[in-house]
Amino acid sequence: MSWERKAKKYTGVELVKDSTKSDDLRKKILKLSSEYFDLVHKKKEFIPGETFVAASSKVLDKNDLNNLIDSSLDLWLTAGRYADEFEKKLPKKFGTKFASSTVSGSAANLLAFSALTSDYFGDSKIKDGDEVITVAAGFPTTVAPIIHNRCVPVYLDVDLETCNIKTEDLKKALTKKTKAVFLAHTLGNPFDLEVVTNFCKENNLFLIEDCCDAFGSKFDGKTVGSFGNFASLSFYPAHHITTGEGGAVLYNDYKMKRIVESFRDWGRDCWCQTGMNNTCGKRYSWKLGNLPKGYDHKFVYSHVGYNMKITDMQAALGSSQLDKVEEFIQKRKDNFIYMMKRFLDEKLDKYFILPEAHPKADPSWYGFLLTIKNSKKIDRNELVSYLNSKKILTRLLFAGNLTKQPGYINKKHKIIGNLKNTDKIMSDTFWVGVWPGLGKKQLNYIVEEIKNFIQNI
Ligand SMILES: Cc1ncc(COP(=O)(O)O)c(C=O)c1O
Repeated sequence: MSWERKAKKYTGVELVKDSTKSDDLRKKILKLSSEYFDLVHKKKEFIPGETFVAASSKVLDKNDLNNLIDSSLDLWLTAGRYADEFEKKLPKKFGTKFASSTVSGSAANLLAFSALTSDYFGDSKIKDGDEVITVAAGFPTTVAPIIHNRCVPVYLDVDLETCNIKTEDLKKALTKKTKAVFLAHTLGNPFDLEVVTNFCKENNLFLIEDCCDAFGSKFDGKTVGSFGNFASLSFYPAHHITTGEGGAVLYNDYKMKRIVESFRDWGRDCWCQTGMNNTCGKRYSWKLGNLPKGYDHKFVYSHVGYNMKITDMQAALGSSQLDKVEEFIQKRKDNFIYMMKRFLDEKLDKYFILPEAHPKADPSWYGFLLTIKNSKKIDRNELVSYLNSKKILTRLLFAGNLTKQPGYINKKHKIIGNLKNTDKIMSDTFWVGVWPGLGKKQLNYIVEEIKNFIQNI
């Protein structure tokens, strides 16, 4: 039975477009919305020094606007037919079997990690005080779920060229309490998945890949996000595709669906889709926990959960964005290659450590990462404020060294060796954009202004 028919059966809401009049009206509205898009949201001409050159942003077209409006006309609002469609299309891009959509990449990380604390995993489940190997050079919400679940992040240093984990230190981090490795593919650049997955297999550790910045990156010909137990995605407008706010958890094991979605949907045991009832056929006959037999399954909670479901309008946007993702990924790669060529032609590698990928990696780059070689000569803050004055926007590598962030200083953690390169990144690294909205004009302008700054110091 289709989702629309189920919705009608259980709720009486008519989503089947069988009325000619309403169909015609819908078509007219969408035609007008396309006209509106062309009039108002047309790409504007780039004027150096006047138009902002964002480090990251979204690329939207009239199909995106049409999908948003189409879903709003349903007035279904919560996860519905578009969420269904999106969750079916999304895993195909990664070669995973399942995707559960959620409200953000941070939520996806939290759901993925929390799922590993489920009783389903028996003795191997993650418990209070367990240790999780990660890095401090990155985004805070890759690490936050470890702390939220009362576990201990164990920080390793990173290589300066890739800004990814120094895999040679993995063994030093291993203790009896180590349960998982939780890492992001930094700015779309895959970490060494060969070494990390082998390490996890040999030591019976869970692996979570934070792919929020790495949609479409590959390692050894396989898409990232398909290596670990779970992977996360973000659809915030800065990312490879957008749903406004949004994210997803990817996985291969069907049993994980109930666990991830239980944490996502208030912790409930029931797996009915929104608006449905009695999918299990035993709504009033379960005996669970210490509840009386027959306690309504809709209100039985097998996990201490959240509510992190997306709306159908977000999913509608995600679905039309997905149709363009291959194009977006190719543009990011082309822009990256162009930037690298310009930097090398201009001999800027004398001043900066330029980004490098593992020989087996094929990154779908999120940004062009630059680390100043000699910070006595070039001051990072002066350079980024100069670029800012020229309307070129830059980003730092997020938290820099997370252990030095006010919210994280006093949280229990371990550091293996030292975080020398992480500290260097905190002080001397920044990135500029390669997102698909940028073309050669903008990229040349970035290079020229970096050259101007260097010539004047
Ligand atoms: C690596 C990484 N993980 C997680 C997130 C969080 O995603 P969101 O902003 O959707 O919560 C981000 C955000 O940019 C990120 O870069």
